[in-house]
Amino acid sequence: MRLPGNGLMWGLAGSLWTEARRAPRRLATHLRCWRKLCLLARLCSGSAPLGPTAPKRTAVTSSATSGQQTLHTPVMVKEVLESLDVQPGQVVLDMTFGAGGHTKAILRAVRDVTVVALDRDPVAHGLAQQLAEEHPGRVYPLLGRFSELSPLLTRLGFGPGSVSAALLDAGCSSMQMDSAQRGFSLSKDGPLDMRMDGERFPRMPSATDVLNALDQQALASLLRAYGEERHAGKIASAILQARRVYPIQRTQQLASIVAGSMPACALYARRDRLQRPSHVATKTFQALRVFVNDELNELHAGLQVAQKHLRPCGGRLCALTFHSLEDRLVKRFLRGEDLSAPPRMSSRQRARRALRARQEEEEEEDEEDEEEDDDGTGGSAGWVSLRRKVLTPSRKELEENPRGRSAKLRAAIKR
Ligand SMILES: C[S@@+](CC[C@H](N)C(=O)[O-])C[C@H]1O[C@@H](n2cnc3c(N)ncnc32)[C@H](O)[C@@H]1O
Repeated sequence: MRLPGNGLMWGLAGSLWTEARRAPRRLATHLRCWRKLCLLARLCSGSAPLGPTAPKRTAVTSSATSGQQTLHTPVMVKEVLESLDVQPGQVVLDMTFGAGGHTKAILRAVRDVTVVALDRDPVAHGLAQQLAEEHPGRVYPLLGRFSELSPLLTRLGFGPGSVSAALLDAGCSSMQMDSAQRGFSLSKDGPLDMRMDGERFPRMPSATDVLNALDQQALASLLRAYGEERHAGKIASAILQARRVYPIQRTQQLASIVAGSMPACALYARRDRLQRPSHVATKTFQALRVFVNDELNELHAGLQVAQKHLRPCGGRLCALTFHSLEDRLVKRFLRGEDLSAPPRMSSRQRARRALRARQEEEEEEDEEDEEEDDDGTGGSAGWVSLRRKVLTPSRKELEENPRGRSAKLRAAIKR
């Protein structure tokens, strides 16, 4: 879908972003913005509703399963199993089946366990269906988003309070990242799509639609809010200039536009947690992906569903996150904070943030957010944190699977 640049569309896109600029981090605002962008998409494509196309058995493409290659290496399997502490006969909810690495580990570790395996991506769902055939009566595959999960669970007979353990391994799988056609990766050239379930919701805006429809301020707000990109203004301006010449449709095209907006020395000046150079467009790609898939609202919805369906006094939640926006959201949820209010900060965090703001103009950023790792209060009225400190992968694990470098694991028991 291409968004035409007529007055109505631009007007809507402009007003949507005025709201986002006022309070870019608020989930409620994001939701309102998102609904308007959906409306935009609907207007462009006639008035057809944006509901999902009927779920069907998805053929797992050869690119997803070719040979015996590992589709996705599951992160912190041992720590996940310890946190979930699954017992024989229990029902486990894997909310992010992906290539099924964690589900398979659970099936191997515990007898008579039942796993409900959700994924919004039809390719992952196809893999879950295959696994269900290999383990009759032990795996229940579900296609859908976190925000659609509660009624799906109830329909399967797993109503509120019936699940013993839930795993949420947020973000994208390697299957998604490694497929050039899906447009998630800045190192592989492909169409800038980035929708995890574009096959189900073909009228939902893709990354190309977003990049070519929003005005400069709106784009800058998006990059700042969802990528925590400090050079958002410069990058948004470069995108606007480039698309006047030609629409932005390919991943490498976007990567070069972002690179071109920075001095050459800044191209790989950023470092990831393993101190490896990371491309200057990484945060731009993250921001677009998070926005296109409405990932933060979805994560919040997922945590709420887990809370509803876990059994009281002992149900366990394990959440793996991969960037600070996700981790902050999980941490605040487990503390029982109101997520529409600004985050509570200690005086140390406030001082650090003020210092960072002052340095912003002058220096290249330290790539990783220095979030407080401490769970602090140890939980809220609804949850008891399993550990005081957040867990991260061991050095040995990272040597084998560098993609897990920014993983953070938080686990809690429902009161
Ligand atoms: C990091 S991967 C999970 C990998 C998996 N644990 C494994 O071992 O293979 C994240 C998966 O979650 C799915 N996902 C992301 N957001 C989702 C949402 N809102 N609802 C359902 N699935 C989602 C993605 O499609 C992706 O397959």
